Amino acid sequence: MNIAANPVVEADQTVYLKDYQKPSFLVDSINLDIQVYDDHTKVNSVLVMKRQTAGDLILLGRDLELKSIILNGKPLSETDYTLDAEQLVIAQAPDQVTLETQVIIHPESNTQLEGLYQASGDLFVTQNEPEGFRKITFYPDRPDVLSVFTTRVEADKKFPVLLANGNLMEAGETGEGRHYTIWQDPTKKPSYLFACVIGDLAVLKDAYVTSEGRNVALEIYAEEKDIPKCHIAMEALKHSMQWDEEHYGRPYDLDNYMIVATSAFNMGAMENKGLNIFNTSCVLADEEYTSDAAIMRVQSVIAHEYFHNWTGNRITCRDWFQLCLKEGLTVFRDQSFSEDLQSAAVQRIDDVAVLKAHQFPEDSGPLSHPPRPDHFVEINNFYTATVYEKGAEINRMMSTLLGKVKFRQGTDEYFRRHDGQAVTVEDWVAALTAGSGVDLSNFLTWYNQPGTPKLEAKGEYDAAKQTYRLSFKQSLKAHPKYPNLKAVPIPVALALFDAASGEQLSLQSAALFENGVKDGVYLFDQEQATIEFSGVTAKPVVSLLRNFSAPVNLEFNYSDEELAFLIQYETNGFNQWQATQTLLERILLEGHEAGIYIEAIKNTLPDLVEKDPLLASRLFDIPTEGYLGSRIDSEYQPAVIQEQRNALVNTLARELGAFCKETYAALDPELQHEFSQAMGVRALKNIMLNMMARQGDTSAFDLAHEQYQNTGNMSERLGALKVLVWNDAPQAKDVLADFYDRFKEEALSLDQWFMVQAAHPKATAETIQVLTSHADYDLKVPNRIRAVSGGLNANPVNTWSFGVQHYIDLAKYLDEKNPIVGSRLLQVLSRWYTLAEPQRSEVKAALEALKPQVKSKNVSETLNSMLSV
Ligand code: ARG
Ligand code: ZN
Repeated sequence: MNIAANPVVEADQTVYLKDYQKPSFLVDSINLDIQVYDDHTKVNSVLVMKRQTAGDLILLGRDLELKSIILNGKPLSETDYTLDAEQLVIAQAPDQVTLETQVIIHPESNTQLEGLYQASGDLFVTQNEPEGFRKITFYPDRPDVLSVFTTRVEADKKFPVLLANGNLMEAGETGEGRHYTIWQDPTKKPSYLFACVIGDLAVLKDAYVTSEGRNVALEIYAEEKDIPKCHIAMEALKHSMQWDEEHYGRPYDLDNYMIVATSAFNMGAMENKGLNIFNTSCVLADEEYTSDAAIMRVQSVIAHEYFHNWTGNRITCRDWFQLCLKEGLTVFRDQSFSEDLQSAAVQRIDDVAVLKAHQFPEDSGPLSHPPRPDHFVEINNFYTATVYEKGAEINRMMSTLLGKVKFRQGTDEYFRRHDGQAVTVEDWVAALTAGSGVDLSNFLTWYNQPGTPKLEAKGEYDAAKQTYRLSFKQSLKAHPKYPNLKAVPIPVALALFDAASGEQLSLQSAALFENGVKDGVYLFDQEQATIEFSGVTAKPVVSLLRNFSAPVNLEFNYSDEELAFLIQYETNGFNQWQATQTLLERILLEGHEAGIYIEAIKNTLPDLVEKDPLLASRLFDIPTEGYLGSRIDSEYQPAVIQEQRNALVNTLARELGAFCKETYAALDPELQHEFSQAMGVRALKNIMLNMMARQGDTSAFDLAHEQYQNTGNMSERLGALKVLVWNDAPQAKDVLADFYDRFKEEALSLDQWFMVQAAHPKATAETIQVLTSHADYDLKVPNRIRAVSGGLNANPVNTWSFGVQHYIDLAKYLDEKNPIVGSRLLQVLSRWYTLAEPQRSEVKAALEALKPQVKSKNVSETLNSMLSV
């Protein structure tokens, strides 16, 4: 069978970027008719297609029961086509084809949450990215086939809401208690952006007038009781629409924009054209029920999905290897949006913290891959931190280098050239280059190779010549699959400070421009280079990689005193924070003294709490055990890390002394007008409360209990709950019971209840057993699974002991029921090979025993990669 029109699927199931070929047929239009019944769903489709290149007509389809197929008016018999588990192939099709098919599918028993599925008794939704549409009907289900969709949805009237993409053209009754709607989406789109919703939901309505004067109806659909929790998302949506007009010149292009919330969702959310479908965790936001962090996440995911309308939908990906084209750019855009919502420094800190905690370890282990991979078995396995977060960093580097004006000229050119097209990473970089007039082509290297570069820097002051020299060297760890690793362009944002006064030196007067230092950013694009600053009258303190200007591992021999200096005097909030992290890592892993850190914090805090309480709270971030473990490549002993970290927290608590209680008492979030500031104050209070408990101050438990009882704010309540539960306070049992009673009907809050218990440092196999056999534990709801599994993984000592079996059992169960989630959860164990013996061999044996028991491409590919070290 000739299957060359799709990237070739070889016997070993690996798909390669180099094998990309254009589809042989394009689809001009598709008419879909979806009729939902209790025990099956009928899907009729009419595709109008025309030939583009030679080759067979290939329609992808999975788990479809084919009832009839008619080509240009003639019913086909089984000898007219070949059909296997993945596709229907018609050889020698004419150049113009109208193809009608009828299939039966079973959303009511679809547990994989991909394609059309029943999310709850009241609700059917779709998730088609990347390859779910082929589970709805036979179709060339690939992103480079763009078509106009008309959709008819029919169901029982017990589901009053019937939605699809585009404009509502018609609605009516069909008799027998059923009704229908017909929708038309005027914009051509790939099938992964198709969505429909059938359900019993309430709606929050609003409107937005675009810069072009278009009046857009905005609707957020959720369960009736959750509608009051949709206002923050609605405001964020309007804000996003305006932000994209202002910053990228991109107005919205349809007359309506709908968002539907469901609790049964594998990921965060999905940008279907005009009809986003969201995990409830990314749309419901309310002080009383969700934490500050969750509220921030809702706003950023709303923006993310909205921004996809231009970066993803209007301009889409040619093939799934280009996933980071839309995701890397859209994450960069949502991060920039969020920088306007809160302390910009803290947004950057949080984004880099995620990058370092997830992407760096991923990129240094067996699952490492380039931001644009060149092969995969299961594309669902590549919705990774590398594609999303490192992808965002590549865009940030180019934007840093170009500056605001030129970056905008570049993006304008991208939209001008490629609107309505399915394109590649090369197209993006070429458009940025053409629009800005700056050659960025060497940034393609970042997209094409794996690994986190190491950036070694050395500083040398010459008192006689009054010069300061900085030399740089970059390197990458050898990778068996990528033998020709090249140097990458690394923008190094830097500043020099006068050690005596704490003042920043002006590079303008001090720098040698021939070295390419411009606007405080040096572009280091060779293996080695040295730059020199002149007129430096005393040995300066240098601050490198400000705002984390490149996703690299920096090695620079700051002295502890210089780091303390930067905590106090650096004006870039991110590098202020980075200095605390570097210092804390040394105290933790290399046994340096803690005093110098505490001194610096005490000097910095009073002013900072006034100015930016959120940033102040972040200066107390102590690297987590998980992060510390990920920095260790062999002989890793989780218990040793736990002990060292505990010792540090105890020392800090002791040395901070009365400061904690005083600070706690002095802070009042009610006095803050802005959410970001109040959030900072709440974070600081929770940190102080925790430190007091660490000091063995039993009044801390009373204060925590009081805070728990007297607040209507989830961050305050949760902060207090954690202090009580994780320290086994006498009140712990009562507050847990109280929390359950208050929130048992509120799934997202109840997730927190599961999480807090699973994340207890002294949790045992039995704790997990009790939680997973609780009446409210539900293996059909990914959020609930993640609450327990994620909570457990907060303590690597637990992950790597009784947790191993937990993750393996889950992967085995989900392999069949929900392989997307199963594959992800298994990745928690991907750094098994770094463990010290005997744990290393034990975990390896457990993983090997799992191998013959799993069938899905998702879990098998992940497991094979994990075991390939
Ligand atoms: N495009 C979505 C987003 O980033 C994610 C969809 C991922 N879905 C999946 N099944 N892997 O917003
Ligand atoms: Zn996205």
